[in-house]
Amino acid sequence: MKNYKRYLITSALPYANGPVHIGHLAGVYIPADIYVRYLRLKKRDVLFIGGSDEHGVPITIKARQEGVSPQDIVDKYHNIIKSSFEKFGISFDIYSRTTSKIHYETASEFFKTLYDRGEFIEKTTDQYYDEEAKQFLADRYITGTCPHCGNESAYGDQCEKCGTSLNATDLINPKSTLSGTPPVLRSTSHWYLPLDKHEAYLRNWILEENKDWKTNVYGQCKSWLDQGLQPRAVSRDLDWGIPVPVEGAKGKVLYVWFDAPIGYISATKELTPDWAKYWKDKETCMIHFIGKDNIVFHCIIFPAMLHAEGSYILPTNVPANEFLNLEGDKISTSRNWAVWLHEYLEDFPGKEDVLRYTLCANAPETKDNDFTWKDFQTRNNSELVAIFGNFVNRALVLTQNYFGGIVPQAGEFNDFDNVTFNEIASIKKNVEESLEAFRFREALKEAMNLARLGNKYLADTEPWKLIKTDEGRVKTILNISLQITANLAILMEPFLPKTAESLRKMLNINQFEWETIGSLLLPVGHKINQAELLFEKIEDSAIDQQLERLTRIKAENERKNTKAAPQKEPINFDNFSTMDIRTGTILEAEKVPKTTKLMKLKVDTGIDVRTIVSGIAEHFTAEELPGKQISVLVNLEPRKIKGIESQGMILLAEDFSGKLIFVVPENKTDNGALVK
Ligand code: MF3
Ligand code: ZN
Repeated sequence: MKNYKRYLITSALPYANGPVHIGHLAGVYIPADIYVRYLRLKKRDVLFIGGSDEHGVPITIKARQEGVSPQDIVDKYHNIIKSSFEKFGISFDIYSRTTSKIHYETASEFFKTLYDRGEFIEKTTDQYYDEEAKQFLADRYITGTCPHCGNESAYGDQCEKCGTSLNATDLINPKSTLSGTPPVLRSTSHWYLPLDKHEAYLRNWILEENKDWKTNVYGQCKSWLDQGLQPRAVSRDLDWGIPVPVEGAKGKVLYVWFDAPIGYISATKELTPDWAKYWKDKETCMIHFIGKDNIVFHCIIFPAMLHAEGSYILPTNVPANEFLNLEGDKISTSRNWAVWLHEYLEDFPGKEDVLRYTLCANAPETKDNDFTWKDFQTRNNSELVAIFGNFVNRALVLTQNYFGGIVPQAGEFNDFDNVTFNEIASIKKNVEESLEAFRFREALKEAMNLARLGNKYLADTEPWKLIKTDEGRVKTILNISLQITANLAILMEPFLPKTAESLRKMLNINQFEWETIGSLLLPVGHKINQAELLFEKIEDSAIDQQLERLTRIKAENERKNTKAAPQKEPINFDNFSTMDIRTGTILEAEKVPKTTKLMKLKVDTGIDVRTIVSGIAEHFTAEELPGKQISVLVNLEPRKIKGIESQGMILLAEDFSGKLIFVVPENKTDNGALVK
């Protein structure tokens, strides 16, 4: 690893229009946090910056949906997000927000500097406008078909399917998301950042100087650069955002993607008066952790802004992840298809590290990946409990039992001891190499190998058998096992910080330092504390509960997405009046044997009492039906169903979730009343 003087690690600022979910965690915050914790253990000078992105159309759309002000929305979600990150253990040095005063000042000043220097061009163009909503349609207020990949729900500023950044006028079949109507064009003027002017610079910087970036990031950048960069509007006609700080810009605000990344700068300023050296000194290593839909903004647009300003450094790396799916479907805030962090923390208290472990082990690093609850359970039960927890517990409990919790004096190491012990240093090296290449899954797997090593060492040496015959050998074995445990605590700290902390307490050690991994960390005679279980088994019932929740959400979504069937062919009144529909009352009901759907009913139609077979047995029980007043088509030709003659048909409505509901008179009435 090249030695930088200091590190500035940023993680994408989540929109404060909803809570954070596992997709955010796996894609951005867990890898960023692992990296930062690793740097801290290496005693590097590092700042970890986070915060909420509180401007832009994602916020105003949510406010409109909930019928509250944008300020209410950002206050609500900023607090939820901030506290869930804190409980989960994402170790930001600051978690700020883009509605803060310091951010307004910083972003305005940044714009002003570029403006005064003539770095923008002002253009009057035709933009889409919604005449019903009386508003210009920027960004997510407009959707249409992406001209590049054909995705039918691309936004006015970006297609999330292929990642391309768009202008609203590029969309095919544009539609206002406010009124649903096709928009009209209206002229308006805005400030543009001429990306074309910086193209050659960016080209060289990314394609030549940053060949070591992840292939997904490098590839996306190359494809944009090859298409040629266009000027990009950095202001919007909206009433939520930072006002454009120049004369005659009434009603115009900064484009959210102009102000948000400046949020990293504002947050650093808020954190330390020493902020400038993190942003302006070439010996700083700046790394942006983001999701793949943010690549263009962090690799092209923000660097162009920083370059145009002139006094800032550019990022050293931008490790972007792909997307995480949930049980095979795309995670979606609007469809509630997600595992929400704040809900997880309530459902699985104390199990923060289990989620960290699963999400890191399954991180969508090189391709989209899937989170399943079954896998979560297996990772916990067969890896954390069975390998990590089991090893640590045996090492500690045996030491308590045999030596009263005192680290015993080791005898001379035999070959197996030496091989085992030396393995720690080589695991350390592997973990470092993987982490420094942003291969977190691999790093975690390698770190787990130390727990595997410990487990195997105990299984092979069997101290519980030797204790009667060779106490001296047992002392050596447990000394080595405890050393492995202590090394494991440090090695795992970036990945499983709460577990590492528990382990630190059990081992009764204070200092954690990365470079000590591979050495004898516990002196002979050191007293350890009582062992507690690091992980506990997750039962099927907890997993089933989560799966049931998802099944419910799926049904709700299906219902919301189902539209009323189109109208049937027209009929005349005579056609209609041939149908004889009456009110009637169910007198008896019994399930037709050997069928799942059929119910045999005795119905008083007012004309007579007759038998009707109806396909409702999956929706109602025989007990709840007698006494129910319903509507019956009485002149339907009798028909034999499973050997029973059915004389009529009960009228039912089938709702959009597939549930059946009787069509009943509003008040109890006479049997035989004509429905017309
Ligand atoms: N809010 C954006 C998103 O969720 C990310 C903003 S990152 C920043 O996609 F750079 F703008 F801060
Ligand atoms: Zn597209």
